[in-house]
Amino acid sequence: MAKTKTVFFCQNCGAQYAKWQGQCTSCKAWNTIAEEVVQKAEKNDWKSNTKTTKTNRTAKPLRISEISSGNETRYNTNDAELNRVLGGGLVPGSLTLLGGEPGIGKSTLLLQISLQLPYKTLYVSGEESQQQIKMRAERIRSKTDNCLILTETKTQNIFRQIEETEPDIVIIDSIQTLHSDYIESSAGSISQIRECTTELIKFAKETATPVLLIGHITKDGHIAGPKILEHMVDTVLQFEGDRNHVYRILRALKNRFGSTSELGIYEMQGSGLREVSNPSEILISKKDEELSGTAIASTLEGMRPLMIEIQALVSTAVYGTPQRSATGYNLKRLHMLLAVLEKRAGFRLGAKDVFLNVTGGISVDDPAIDLAVVAAILSSNEDISVPKDFCFAAEVGLAGEIRPVTKVEQRIQEADKLGFSTIFVSKYNKISLQDNKINIRLVSKIEDVVEYLFG
Ligand code: TYD
Ligand code: MG
Repeated sequence: MAKTKTVFFCQNCGAQYAKWQGQCTSCKAWNTIAEEVVQKAEKNDWKSNTKTTKTNRTAKPLRISEISSGNETRYNTNDAELNRVLGGGLVPGSLTLLGGEPGIGKSTLLLQISLQLPYKTLYVSGEESQQQIKMRAERIRSKTDNCLILTETKTQNIFRQIEETEPDIVIIDSIQTLHSDYIESSAGSISQIRECTTELIKFAKETATPVLLIGHITKDGHIAGPKILEHMVDTVLQFEGDRNHVYRILRALKNRFGSTSELGIYEMQGSGLREVSNPSEILISKKDEELSGTAIASTLEGMRPLMIEIQALVSTAVYGTPQRSATGYNLKRLHMLLAVLEKRAGFRLGAKDVFLNVTGGISVDDPAIDLAVVAAILSSNEDISVPKDFCFAAEVGLAGEIRPVTKVEQRIQEADKLGFSTIFVSKYNKISLQDNKINIRLVSKIEDVVEYLFG
């Protein structure tokens, strides 16, 4: 019998040590180093019974012009949002990791994709039984019958089934539940995740099969397991949103085959996820009466312009220290804007509670929504509503100046398309737009905006 070999891994960053220590020297985290049993096996190949000759082949260097690109064939996932985030579909032989909080809808998204793919798909679940998946599939309503469901966690058994069924696409839910016979530590440990991913990469590259993996995330939002997992895969997607809201955002954190600035929006419904192709129309509440404390911002999520509604509530502080809270917006930035309003525009907000909310459960870090935040706060403070067909796209600087933003023309066009009558942008933005119905108001200081809105 082989000698048992144990190695110590930091559960936070995946650094490896020969003996235990209290603090990880690599990521400086305390108490994260744990012992794992690792055992080397002689044969470490995804194919269980057939000998492969491909791996013995040695690669030769080639001129870039001599290499045929040949990878223009992508698997269309039949889901416009996912296709866009992937950069045009699944690349053969690629590994895609989908991360996200528990219950956000990762399994739902991938099951839904497998049920509508025109290709033969193997959906491997280590988390749910076949009956549970069937129940979920009944809610989603499948469009094709190409999907095979396998409940298995041992990679060697999975590969045996793959050899038998020869699927075009493989989906694994989730990488943390897999375990390989070549390693002795428990499923979800760093060495298991690394080993299983290596086996899957070998399989994907040798057979040109795209593999989609679901990954759990830790409580601070990183994908559980070693950081190296993110290095190993080709694409890392993140599924995010507020579990209490219906909107979900899919974004690429890493993509070897496309840009990371694209994003997909879904709505969670009783019958699965629905693609949202016109997000702005949903995120703005259609109300007849004008309420104080709301303002619309024209923001960009990835490359897509998006109109979002900002709500603010300013009230006299009941306790000594005023409260400030922000949902979907950076609290530090809110403090900064309040200081700017106090110092540069003369509003006494120091003794007031300020609550800020980006509606729809979306979190925005685009500085171009600053001016809408300011307008919402002042509107609530003065109790005068901002006309509901006004919108804003500008950053606010520390001196109270209105600063230009990127891609202003796209933002203006989106506002125009949605029927807004006026958009406030910085005087310093270069705009060469013609034939717009929308009235573009150029402003340079907060005072200009205040005077225009509240007289
Ligand atoms: P799930 O895909 O299980 O999340 P994850 O795999 O990321 O942990 O999502 C489960 C949630 O989605 C659950 O709270 C119920 C909701 N849901 C719907 O609202 N409609 C549906 O059709 C389905 C299948 C799930
Ligand atoms: Mg799941």
